[in-house]
Amino acid sequence: MGENSIKALMVYYSFEGNVEFIASKVKSFLDLDLERLIPDVEPPRKGLGKFLAGGHSALFNKLPNLAALKHNISDYDQFIIASPVWAGTYTPAIGAFLRDNKIQGKRIYLIASSASGNAEKMLLKLEDALKGNNVVDTLSLQNPLKDPDSASTLIQNFCHRILN
Ligand SMILES: Cc1cc2nc3c(=O)[nH]c(=O)nc-3n(C[C@H](O)[C@H](O)[C@H](O)COP(=O)(O)O)c2cc1C
Repeated sequence: MGENSIKALMVYYSFEGNVEFIASKVKSFLDLDLERLIPDVEPPRKGLGKFLAGGHSALFNKLPNLAALKHNISDYDQFIIASPVWAGTYTPAIGAFLRDNKIQGKRIYLIASSASGNAEKMLLKLEDALKGNNVVDTLSLQNPLKDPDSASTLIQNFCHRILN
């Protein structure tokens, strides 16, 4: 591994590509592994049903089953966990990951992607769900795909903070 490497796994969920973009950027700045969560249930792609079903599942913690992970969680001591904000909280796929994997005693970095730019509540809930770990730093991005260059700069700064 190069000098820009941390022994870390980035675990993320993306429904509409923003967090996928964030993950690809992080991967370009840090030598880490990526684990994209694949749930068996997702909201409809279009229309009001997207927000109703997605928001409902997030608010009421209706957790999906996840496809088998590609990486062995116990191989890593640092994690980046990234999620869209749904109805003010983290996505059910992330909830399912935390249900299935008892994460304890790890260094953790959180990344939120939202339309409003307000991810404070989601980050607090995620920190709460990660009790027993050391949440070192967080990053909140607003609609990163709308201005990929600005988002890329913020992600690069965050990655450098993580390294130092
Ligand atoms: C079901 C659903 C609920 C959402 N709820 C919120 C919300 O409460 N607050 C917010 O700022 N954005 C909300 N959004 C917007 C997403 O957080 C935002 O578009 C995010 O960047 C999407 O990431 P993705 O493209 O990786 O799926 C919601 C989007 C969906 C689909």
